[in-house]
Amino acid sequence: MNILLTGGAGYIGSHTTIEFIEAGHGVVIVDNFANSNPLVLKRIEEICRQKIPFYNINVADVVKLDEVFYKHKIDAVIHFAGLKAVGESVKIPVKYYRNNIDSTLALLEIMEKHNVNKLIFSSSATVYGEINNIPYIETMPTGHCSNPYAWTKLFIEQILKDVAAVNQDFSVVLLRYFNPVGAHPSGKTGENPNGIPNNLFPYISQVAVGKLVELKIFGNDYPTKDGTGVRDYIHVTDLAKGHVAALEYAKRHKGAEAINLGTGIGCSVLEIVKTFEKANKIKIPYQIVGRRAGDLAEYYADVSKAALLLKWKTQKTLEDMCRDTWRWQMQNPNGYN
Ligand code: WQD
Repeated sequence: MNILLTGGAGYIGSHTTIEFIEAGHGVVIVDNFANSNPLVLKRIEEICRQKIPFYNINVADVVKLDEVFYKHKIDAVIHFAGLKAVGESVKIPVKYYRNNIDSTLALLEIMEKHNVNKLIFSSSATVYGEINNIPYIETMPTGHCSNPYAWTKLFIEQILKDVAAVNQDFSVVLLRYFNPVGAHPSGKTGENPNGIPNNLFPYISQVAVGKLVELKIFGNDYPTKDGTGVRDYIHVTDLAKGHVAALEYAKRHKGAEAINLGTGIGCSVLEIVKTFEKANKIKIPYQIVGRRAGDLAEYYADVSKAALLLKWKTQKTLEDMCRDTWRWQMQNPNGYN
C-alpha cells in the first residue's frame, strides 16, 4: 500500500515511516518541521536505502495537501502532525486547538475528496484523564483531561468516530500511546526535544552525555512502589510496529476502534535511572525535588485489546530502551541540530 504520514519527520513519525518501509509499503511524508528537522529525512533514507517522497507543507493547507493526493495514489493515512507539548498547551491553548483540530479537519476533507478511507490516528493515554483506575482499559470513560493538548486528542477522537458513523467505508484506529521512548537501534534517529527536555528519557540521556548536570526527580512521596512516579514506557520501534499492525486491522474492519499501545508494565523513575545506569555502565546523578504540577502518581496500559485485535505486543525490554536511547544520544550529542 501507499501510505501518507503526516508529521512523518517527527520522533514517532520517523520511526513509523521506517517500519512501514520495512513492511514493504510505499510512503509519502508531509511535514512542516514545526517539531522536526530536515536531517531526519536524510537519516530515514540512509536506514532504508531509498528516496522518500516529501512535501514541506502544513497539513491545514488544503490546497497543497490536495496536490499531494493528486500526485500520489494514497491508500491510507497515518496522522501524527500536531503540537504535542503538554505544558506549552496550557500557555497557548488557542494555538493548540486551532493547529491540531484544523489540520485534522483539512485532512478529512481531502481524504473524502480522494476517497481514501483508512486512517490511523496518533492519540494518547492522556485522554483517560485523572479519574480512571489503573490499568487503563479502552472501555473506560474518557475526559476530565488535565491540559488542552489532551483535550485536542479527545476532540479529534470524537470527530473521527462521527465520520466513521456516517461513512460506512471509513476505517479508523485511534492509537492511545503511553510513554514512547528510545531510538532506532542504528542510533541514526531518535528523540530530539527542543530546548531543555520536559520528558524523563531525553533528560536522563542529556545528563549522561554531559549536556545537563543532574536529573531532578519530581517527588518521591507518591503512593507508588518506591514513591516516585510510575509510567508505561514503550520503545518507539515497538510503537511504530503497532501502527503497521493497526493498518492491517483497518484493512479488514470498518468503523472506529480505540486501542492502547503500551507494555502493560509500570516502571518508576528510580527504576528507569537504575536500569539506564546498569545497561550503559554510567552514573546518573540525581536530586529528589518537589512534585511537578499536573503529574499523576501512576498509570499504565491494559494491553489485551491490542493483543487480540492487532495480534501485536511489545518485544523490546527496558534495557533495550535505555541502550538505544544512549546510543542515539552518544552519536548525536546535539540531536539533529
Ligand atoms: C515521566 C515521569 C515525571 C522528567 C508524557 C508526555 C505527554 C504525554 C504523556 C503523549 C513522571 C518524572 C520527568 C524529569 C522526572 N505523551 N520526571 N524528572 O509526564 O508521563 O507525560 O506522556 O501524549 O506529552 O509528556 O512523561 O517523561 O514527562 O514524566 O522526575 O525531569 O518522570 O514526574 O513521573 P509524562 P514524562
